Order: sequence, then C-alpha cells, then structure tokens
Amino acid sequence: MENLKVMYKEEELQKRIREMAEEIDKDYAGTKEVIVISVLKGAVFFTVDLVKKMKTDIILEVMQLSSYSGTESTGNIIVKKDLDCNIEGKDILIVEDIIDTGRTLKYLKEYLASKNPNTIKVAVLMDKAERREVKVDVDYTGFVIPNKFIVGYGFDYDEKGRNIPYVGYIE
Ligand code: IMP
Ligand code: MG
Repeated sequence: MENLKVMYKEEELQKRIREMAEEIDKDYAGTKEVIVISVLKGAVFFTVDLVKKMKTDIILEVMQLSSYSGTESTGNIIVKKDLDCNIEGKDILIVEDIIDTGRTLKYLKEYLASKNPNTIKVAVLMDKAERREVKVDVDYTGFVIPNKFIVGYGFDYDEKGRNIPYVGYIE
C-alpha cells in the first residue's frame, strides 16, 4: 500500500498488548473461564496476540457485525454472524480492534447484555476518542489515537492491508 506512514511498529504493539494481557489476567483472577468474543474481521489479529499472552482460561468465540450502508458507521448495525454458544451467567470479554463513533460497541454490548451474562468487559486496541458520538465504557484500551485512517494489523482499507504487520496511517 502506498503512502502508508508507520504509527505503531510490531514491537510497540506487542509490548502494549502484553501489558493489557497482564492487567486483564489480574482483573480476572479467581474467574474460572472467560468467553472472549472477537469481532470479525479486524480484531482477529489483536485477539490472537492478546489471548496468547493471557494466562486466564478462555473460550474463543467470534461474531461479525455489519452496518447497512457504506464504510462510515451509520448506527444501523446488524449481527452478520452470531454466537454459537449460550452466554447466560458467563463472563464475557469483547475484543474489538477500534472504537470510533462508539456505535458498533454500544450495539454489541447491549445485544450481549440482553443474553444475561454475568459480566461484560471490553478490550479495544485503538481508541479514536475525539470521534466519539455515543458513550460506551471500555475497560482496556491499547492506544488513544488521533483522527487518522489506520491500516495494517487487522485494519483495512477496502478490505486490503489487514496483513501489514504494523499499524500505519494514510496521510
Ligand atoms: P464505530 O461504530 O464508529 O465505533 O466504528 C468502528 C468500526 O469502524 C471499526 O470496527 C472499523 O471497522 C471501522 N474503522 C474506524 N476507523 C477505522 C480506521 O482508521 N481504519 C480502519 N477501520 C476503521
Ligand atoms: Mg471492525
């Protein structure tokens, strides 16, 4: 991909993700198992690196959401791929790649809460805080970033660039 500048190198990402995993393990001490829900597709990369660094027992689940139109979050979100398991009474950790307007995460948290889990926490790698339109509580944040379009490490530009090993931005 052309004109991609480096925002976070592989080593910087891994260092921060290790810190997040340690914090998550500490908070879940005494919890038997955590259901990690990775939000397809972007969060796959972050999820794999995060759970490999965690010591807490996890069950891995994936979900896919999609907004009705275009690339901009419209707030009209649908579940494209649902859970395969019953989460009632379970401890849930949502793993998402980025929180932007907050609409996707707000929808997902409310959707999952309606299934009566014991707890729901959220880990996001990137937070475009200045873009927030709806309030959502996030428990673990990797990096707070400026309002730039990022590509790589799961982040795509028209589905391309997800496999770039670092997080870059388009100037
Ligand atoms: P939200 O509902 O506005 O918080 O949207 C979050 C979704 O927007 C993410 O799951 C991404 O798919 C997408 N997104 C937001 N910013 C970026 C970016 O800089 N690069 C790639 N995807 C992005
Ligand atoms: Mg996404």
